[in-house]
Amino acid sequence: MGTAERKDDHIKICLGEDVGFRTKTAGFEGFDFIHCALPELSIDEIDTSCELFGRRLGIPLIISAMTGGTEEGGRINRDLAWAAAETGAGFMLGSQRAMVENPRTAATFAVDRGAGLLVFGNLGVMQAAELGCDGVDALADAAGASAFCLHLNAAMEMLQPEGTRSFKGAAAAIARLCSGCATPIVVKETGCGISRSVGIALREAGALHVDVAGAGGTSFTRIERIRSGDFAPGPFDEWGIPTADSLAMTADLGFRTLIASGGLRSGLDAAKAIAMGADAAGFAMPVLKAWAQGGREGAAAFIRRTAGELRSAMLLTGSRDLAALSEAPLRRVSPHRRGGEDA
Ligand SMILES: Cc1cc2nc3c(=O)[nH]c(=O)nc-3n(C[C@H](O)[C@H](O)[C@H](O)COP(=O)(O)O)c2cc1C
Repeated sequence: MGTAERKDDHIKICLGEDVGFRTKTAGFEGFDFIHCALPELSIDEIDTSCELFGRRLGIPLIISAMTGGTEEGGRINRDLAWAAAETGAGFMLGSQRAMVENPRTAATFAVDRGAGLLVFGNLGVMQAAELGCDGVDALADAAGASAFCLHLNAAMEMLQPEGTRSFKGAAAAIARLCSGCATPIVVKETGCGISRSVGIALREAGALHVDVAGAGGTSFTRIERIRSGDFAPGPFDEWGIPTADSLAMTADLGFRTLIASGGLRSGLDAAKAIAMGADAAGFAMPVLKAWAQGGREGAAAFIRRTAGELRSAMLLTGSRDLAALSEAPLRRVSPHRRGGEDA
C-alpha cells in the first residue's frame, strides 16, 4: 500500500473506530490549579498571545499534524488551516512523505497562509535523513512552513507489517538536520512521548524545539493493529509515556520551544500543560472529529471553545498573560475518584 492511501486509512479508522487509549490517560487529571478567589482581572484584559517561530499567535494552540497526500487529505489540510487562521492558532501539516514520493501531491499540502498563519512542515526522521537539509528546506518552502517537524514513530512502525525495523542513526540525522537546515526543526513524537533520557540526547544533538506528543490520546499502535485487520485489544495499544509525565521529564532541559500534545482534550488541559512548562498545546483527534461533524466551521468552533476554556483557567488562576500562567501553581491530586466515592 502506498503512503497516501495509508494516510487516508488513518483518517478513516480514526473517525470510525475507538482508537483512544483505554486505560492510560494523558495525566492532566492528576493535577489541579490552586484556585484564585480574588483574581482582580477582567476576562477582556487577559492576553493569550505568544510568539512562535517568528509568528504572532493569538492563542497558544496548534492543530497537530494529521494528513496530506490525497484529495481528502488536501481538503482537510485546507479546512483546518482556515480554522487555525480564523482563530489565531498554529497549524501542522501531516507527513509530507507522499509529496517526496510523488511531487504531484504537493497541492494537498498547500494551504492559504493569509494573515501570517504559522505552518509546520512534517516528515519522519528517517526519510528526512535521506533527503538531507536541502530537501527538508525545499519541503518547508513549498508548504510555506516557518518550522519543520521531524516525527519519531518507532512504536507505530513496529506495528505496521510494512514498517521500518531499524532506527539506527536517527540521533545523528537529527544533529545534522538541526545544524544544517535553514528552517527551524521541531522534533516531534506521535503519541508515545519523549523521556528524560531521550530529551537529553536531543539536546546533545542540538535540538532546540520539541513536541512531546505523549500517550493518553490517540493510540497509533491501536490504529495500526486495526489497519492490519485485528480489532482485538493488543499488548502495545497502551504503549507510551503520558503527556503530563513527558512534560515533567523534559520541561527543565532548556528547549527553546516545548509543545505539549497527545490526549489534550480541553483548554484546561492546555492551561495545565503551559503551567508545566509548555509554550503551546497541540490537538489532533478532537479537531478531526469536530471537522468531520461540522467542516471547517466545526473545527474553528472547537478551537474557539478550547481557547475560551484556556482564558477561564487563566482568570481563575489570576494569570493576566501566558508568562503568569506558566508560573501558576499546580498541586498533585489523588487520581481517579469516580462516582463520588470517598478515597
Ligand atoms: C489521523 C491522524 C494522523 C496523524 N498523522 C501524523 C503525521 O503525519 N505526522 C505526525 O507527526 N503526527 C501525526 N499524528 C499524530 C498527532 O500529530 C499527535 O501528535 C497525536 O495524535 C496526539 O494527539 P491527539 O491525542 O490530540 O490526537 C496523527 C494523528 C492523527 C489522529
